[in-house]
Amino acid sequence: MTICYFTGTGNCLYVARRIGGTLLSIPQLMRQEKIVIEDDAVGIVAPVYAVEMPMMVKAFLEKAEIKTEYFFFIYTYGMGYAEAFTHVAVVSEKKGLDLKYINAIQMVDNYLPFFDQKEQIETLPEKNVEGQIAQVVKDISERKLKQVLPTEENLAEMEHWTRTHAAGILKKDTALGYTVNDACIRCGICAKVCPANNITVTEEAVQFSDHCEVCYACLHNCPKSAIHMELEAGATHFRNKFISLSDIIKANE
Ligand SMILES: Cc1cc2nc3c(=O)[nH]c(=O)nc-3n(C[C@H](O)[C@H](O)[C@H](O)COP(=O)(O)O)c2cc1C
Repeated sequence: MTICYFTGTGNCLYVARRIGGTLLSIPQLMRQEKIVIEDDAVGIVAPVYAVEMPMMVKAFLEKAEIKTEYFFFIYTYGMGYAEAFTHVAVVSEKKGLDLKYINAIQMVDNYLPFFDQKEQIETLPEKNVEGQIAQVVKDISERKLKQVLPTEENLAEMEHWTRTHAAGILKKDTALGYTVNDACIRCGICAKVCPANNITVTEEAVQFSDHCEVCYACLHNCPKSAIHMELEAGATHFRNKFISLSDIIKANE
């Protein structure tokens, strides 16, 4: 089994590890000119961003040639995923990929503009993350089917969410609005955890470019909490407790 994953703060890497198999980082795969993945089972683990998949994950699905008998997609999310499944079904169908199983695991919502991370972490036990993961692991090991066949209504709803929600959030120039305060020691960790190679750190400054994936890895993983955006619901930052900073660097550098 092969799992391709995308992560900013470790939830998806943790879930990918729990499912098992060979783990491949989507940001690293995307640097290849041609991507061919062949295995008895191939899965994607990715976060819900603005009730759809991250821009890079969609581009990966469109680019990769996936050859398998059992293709599955697992989202991690915080508050709700609306028509995120429909997005995967639509892209898979366009690629001629037979989506056999799709599910979502509710974890900490790392969307800092809306959610106080301290609160999110405190209320995590109520989500029974381990129970959700165990169910997904069991389903996949039994090659269970859980498919989505979007109706006209799903598709209309999906487009509505994209227009009203995603269009304002999934913007490649997002990081151009970030600020870096005096606490910054130019350690370069933000550049190393960025899956999009969107950050350059020199002795003088941290510079953001215009191909941000909006994953917040730079904000959440900064050891000095020096990176900020306009709207933040709290001062606490998040990284999945089973995932280390060097795990995120290895995944995204
Ligand atoms: C830009 C952005 C948008 C998000 N949008 C949603 C959303 O629409 N619904 C939701 O439930 N969670 C949303 N989240 C939360 C993430 O899906 C969730 O925290 C995920 O587990 C993070 O995975 P990671 O730790 O592997 O990066 C969003 C997070 C970010 C950064």
